[in-house]
Amino acid sequence: MTDTKNENSKPWLRACINFRAGKQLPSCGGVGSREMVASLINAIEEAGIDWRVEAVHCMGQCHAGPTMRILPNGPYIMGVRESNVPDVVQKLKAGDLNGLAVAYPMPSRN
Ligand code: FES
Repeated sequence: MTDTKNENSKPWLRACINFRAGKQLPSCGGVGSREMVASLINAIEEAGIDWRVEAVHCMGQCHAGPTMRILPNGPYIMGVRESNVPDVVQKLKAGDLNGLAVAYPMPSRN
């Protein structure tokens, strides 16, 4: 999949809602991404901000989810829980995408 066709699009959030039953393989859905994404979509609508959330099934970062990314070319936003949604929406509303990435970084693999 390529995002190049969307380079001129306004930014949006892609969010993983993949759920794997059982405990052998981690998944974003297994750590609450479905509930978080539903809450995020509602909060964005209530805030009246112009952000779209695209729900997808797996972004290859299953161990560190819930996984989101600002597209077309933005950073990953990792580990957001439902309780973090007001903070995320506040940062989106303020246009503070760097702050969002700093608050919810990709964990180090070291
Ligand atoms: S299950 Fe969410 S990134 Fe793979």
